[in-house]
Amino acid sequence: MTSAQPSSLDIDARYACARSLALEAARMGLDFYRQRDALTVEHKGDDLQDVVSIADKQIEAFIRERLTEHFPDDGFLGEESGSADLGARCVWVIDPIDGTACFVNGLHNWCVSIGLLIDGEPHLGAIADPNHDELFHGCLGKGAFVNDVPLKVSAATHVGQGVTATGTFHPRGKEHFIPFMEKLLAEGGMFFRNGSGALMTAYVAAGRLLGYYETELKSWDCMAGLVLVKEAGGRVNDFFRNDGLLRGNPYLVACPGVYPQLAAMIGPSLDD
Ligand code: IPD
Ligand code: CA
Ligand code: CA
Repeated sequence: MTSAQPSSLDIDARYACARSLALEAARMGLDFYRQRDALTVEHKGDDLQDVVSIADKQIEAFIRERLTEHFPDDGFLGEESGSADLGARCVWVIDPIDGTACFVNGLHNWCVSIGLLIDGEPHLGAIADPNHDELFHGCLGKGAFVNDVPLKVSAATHVGQGVTATGTFHPRGKEHFIPFMEKLLAEGGMFFRNGSGALMTAYVAAGRLLGYYETELKSWDCMAGLVLVKEAGGRVNDFFRNDGLLRGNPYLVACPGVYPQLAAMIGPSLDD
């Protein structure tokens, strides 16, 4: 028996669900955010920068419960509660709060990110930022949007023509970060980091940033955003090689005119 094509799945229902769930979860996040002084913040492992609160856990539980209710046969991978049914054709990949360090410190750069893989390919995504009333969303073949406005990457052809986002994962990649920053500045580029990989990816899709390089991201940080960048005309690196879905990988997304320049600055570690 040949497997059904993605069109035989109810993609529209999943796309609508991703958007409304992201908005609902972001409203929940905002309620926690307004009372953040009462939250207990824990550190994950030895990395003091990697923090989590009850807000992250409750929002993920809420999203997971709703997805299971609507699409019981779909798989799931979340930052806080792990995975189930990763062999399913549809696998949801979610980050309940991307930008937790900002969230707990009263910085408005955080969001809820919900992505869907179909047959191993990022197919749709929704990223809700309640502090700025922005819902970034997109679906393969249907375009990408912020609220109702179509997204398009920058037409720039040189890093000097705009702002590039960057970040580094403390346990891995510091040795690649400083050389990249030196080259970026030497070429007249400018750097930006807001603490949310999902939002910086969405800003590349929106043409606000030329590109975004991080020495390592996890799949829940970027799954929703990868679709947006592709649909907005941008380029993305091969994030899924070497079990990237579960382990994470170096990450580069950019407008097509600047992608080769950024990839050259990063060098071979982009494909490590
Ligand atoms: C983090 C953010 C941050 C990136 C880190 C991520 P979290 O996610 O996306 O921008 O630099 O690597 O871990 O912990 O806030 O969900
Ligand atoms: Ca994250
Ligand atoms: Ca998170």
